[in-house]
Order: sequence, then structure tokens, then C-alpha cells
Amino acid sequence: MVDARKYLELQKALGGNEVILSAPLGESSRGRDSGRGDLGEIASGPVAPRNDPIPTAPRNDGGSLRGGEAAEAVSPPGSKKGPKHWTDDAPPIPTAHGIQVERKESGLLEAPSPWNSLDEVAAAIASCTKCFLCEGRTKTVPGEGNPSARLMFVGEGPGQTEDETGRPFVGRAGELLTQIIESVELRREQVFIANAVKCRPPQNRKPLPDEIATCRPYLDRQIDLVAPKVLVALGATAAETLLKVKRSLADLRERVHSFHGIPLVVTYHPAALLRNPNWKKPTWDDIRIARQLLDR
Ligand code: URA
Ligand code: URA
Repeated sequence: MVDARKYLELQKALGGNEVILSAPLGESSRGRDSGRGDLGEIASGPVAPRNDPIPTAPRNDGGSLRGGEAAEAVSPPGSKKGPKHWTDDAPPIPTAHGIQVERKESGLLEAPSPWNSLDEVAAAIASCTKCFLCEGRTKTVPGEGNPSARLMFVGEGPGQTEDETGRPFVGRAGELLTQIIESVELRREQVFIANAVKCRPPQNRKPLPDEIATCRPYLDRQIDLVAPKVLVALGATAAETLLKVKRSLADLRERVHSFHGIPLVVTYHPAALLRNPNWKKPTWDDIRIARQLLDR
């Protein structure tokens, strides 16, 4: 269950202009959360319906809920609705035709894979020197998560924190991704998280097409082994990698593509959300579409 605190956290992460965090938790703001002593500044307050056309308040937001940031109150007058569930006002699964990446006779792999498990894929990545990116890496970042996840995310490539730790999405963008996952009542450990390339590009530049192509067999085999029910591409690089098209993210969103028969939802990269909070609401919609596909 998403409790009030969780809901408010995610509202803040995903466009908190609509969230009112009231003054320190006092008697008057104690609602259904009154049993919890750990609300901190995340007190329950009125929450606007998500569809209200409320202008976005200026934020210095990084998506992080830490550090005691006080959230600005931008309460629409008269809205006293309590926290809601992610399904409330969720966009329907789009019916518009997406891009189809056809399943081949042999499944999604071009050739039989030499790797029989995710661990074997990770071991191959760890010793990979097939492209220039190996020269600058500290650690390889194969991906992590539930080996039989039903939901799988694909990002672009490791950043600094990922390169240092060998784990995907553990920097600021990763914290936001974790919140996005939790916003639809999943835990990070339940899903699988991978990237188009497994080594950090210098200065966090975009991976080059030949680097993506060289790394591609690892990702394909990971998807093949995990066999998720739903894929989410985080950002244009991931989307282009999987769909083999070059289109704007706006063109790729709002439809469900098919990657070898697996429904694929394209949304913004969490790092993009850190730069542009206006994209948080559309991302929240996309992720709710992916979540509905999981239940279908
Ligand atoms: N439940 C799971 O076990 N895995 C997922 O990826 C999603 C829901
Ligand atoms: N950005 C990505 O695309 N992947 C990561 O693992 C971290 C940041």
C-alpha cells in the first residue's frame, strides 16, 4: 500500500508543485498518518487533483527528498483531497500504434548466446575490451535486479557514481528512478535495471552508435534472460537503442511499442527530469501506463 507519506514523497519527486507540505506536523495536520513518527517535513496536507492546471512553481528541485528541504506551499484553494492511489486519474493504455521490432524465428537474439545466466553476462562484461569505453572505466555496470523481473528499465550508460560502484542508477538520477518505481507500488529489488552501454562514457557524453552496437549483445541477452513482461526505455538513447529508430522523445512517448513482442514504453530519462521538472508529470503518466501493462 502506498501510504500518505509515500504518496507525498512521490508527488514531490514527480512534480511537487501540486503538493502542499504543511508546517511541522501538528495536531491539525495529523490525518491517517498519525501513527507514523517519521514524517519529518513531509507532513500530510491537502493534495490537489493531479489534473488541475496548476502552474508549475519555480523549484530548485533535484528530486531528492533529503536535506530537509521545505516544500513551497502552492495549494489550490478549496482542494482538500487526501492522498490518492497511483491508479487515480492514470492515463489509459494508449491504443495508437507504436513501432514494432519484430521477433525473429530465433527470438530476439541474432545468434545463440554464449552466456547462460545473468551472472555469465556480467562476467563477460567485466572483462570486455571490445570498445574504447573500457579504457576509462573504473567498474563495469552490467545492471542489477530481479532475474525474473516483470518490469525492466533500460537507461543510457553509467555516470560517475555508477562507474565507481558498479551499480546502475545509484546517483541522483538513480534516486529519482527509485522513487519513480516506488510510485507505482513496486520495489527497486523487484525490477531489473540495465543500460544501453555498460561502461561510463568520458565526461558522461552520450555513447556513440558504434559503442552501443558493440555493447548490444549484452543488453539483448539480458532482456532475453529476464524476459520481462514490460520494458521501459529511459530517454532517447535507450529508446533508439531498442527500437533502432531516431526520433524525438515526444514522438516516441504516448504509444506502446513492441520489442520482440514485449510492450515497450518510452519515457524521459530521470536525469532530464532533474533538469526539467516539467517532464515529471508526463513521466509519472508513462510509468503508470507501464504499470497498467504489467497487470494486463
Ligand atoms: N513484480 C515483480 O516481481 N517484478 C516486477 O518487475 C514487477 C512486479
Ligand atoms: N544514467 C543512466 O543512463 N544510467 C545509469 O545507470 C545512471 C545514470
